[in-house]
Amino acid sequence: MTGEEYIVEINRLRKEKNAVIMAHYYQTKEIQEIADFIGDSLALAQQAKKTDADIIVLCGVHFMGETAKIICPDKKVLIPDMNAGCSLADSCRAEDLAAYKADHPGYTIISYVNTSADVKALTDICVTSSNAEKIVRSLPEGEKIIFGPDRNLGSYINKVTGREMLLWNGACHVHEKFSVTALAQLKKEHPQAKVLAHPECKSSLLVLADVIGSTQALLNYAIKAEEKEFLVATESGILFEMKKACPDKTFIPVPPEMTEGVGCSCNECNYMRLNTLEKLYKCLNEESNEIHVSEEVAEKAIVCIDRMLEMSK
Ligand code: 13P
Ligand code: SF4
Repeated sequence: MTGEEYIVEINRLRKEKNAVIMAHYYQTKEIQEIADFIGDSLALAQQAKKTDADIIVLCGVHFMGETAKIICPDKKVLIPDMNAGCSLADSCRAEDLAAYKADHPGYTIISYVNTSADVKALTDICVTSSNAEKIVRSLPEGEKIIFGPDRNLGSYINKVTGREMLLWNGACHVHEKFSVTALAQLKKEHPQAKVLAHPECKSSLLVLADVIGSTQALLNYAIKAEEKEFLVATESGILFEMKKACPDKTFIPVPPEMTEGVGCSCNECNYMRLNTLEKLYKCLNEESNEIHVSEEVAEKAIVCIDRMLEMSK
């Protein structure tokens, strides 16, 4: 089938099956264009809570599908490619967190949404990059906190809140790779440009940023800003939405560090990019790649997600 034919079929199927297609900003242009809803991790979770569709096709990565399934246990949640994992979620295994938790009694466990359902089941409060600062600030001063798994987001939150949370030593392979040297050079070449960076980037890059926030926060800033030029340090899928919302502005992706001359000028998450229109059509048509979370895990994991959704209002 051609791309056009997939679009016709996906449109027919979503109507027939009362399905909703949700996509993260890191998806390809084709998937963002066909989605009913595009958002950051928090918005996707909030949208899942609201939907009255029977099927949710989550065009993102596995943990996003799990989060939607935990929020909507009675709905069928599908993802286009079961191999769409996440290096950050993989950096925190539930058994390791359980052992760390046992060694640190009295600590509140805050986990980034980029974690498996098993890790969420061990967590007190879930956060995303949109609400992590607000949620940490809302806890009493002096509360003992373990924050995981992203050491970069955690150390950024420690810095802005003055807290001393213990940090899990995990990171996202995409955000860690942005080149500080290349960004410094781009800043020289574009002195008027504002630097927009995701807090998953390493601290040596974040010190060069004008705005640090989730994909949604960076997009909102770009829409409202008077400036016309932006250097963007997050997965390049967001550039599609930025250019669409601000056709008169220029967005330049910050490149990754080059390894022995290999690299590209953008920074794409190989997991997010596994999803294609063809796979989206296939999973919706066959109702395949369904996400399952055991009742036992879901019952525990929903507690930290609900706390997050409540604290984000
Ligand atoms: P946000 O969706 O919170 O901006 O996080 C980005 C991310 O890394 C998702 O994998
Ligand atoms: Fe995970 Fe990083 Fe990809 Fe986001 S960009 S899904 S954190 S690997």
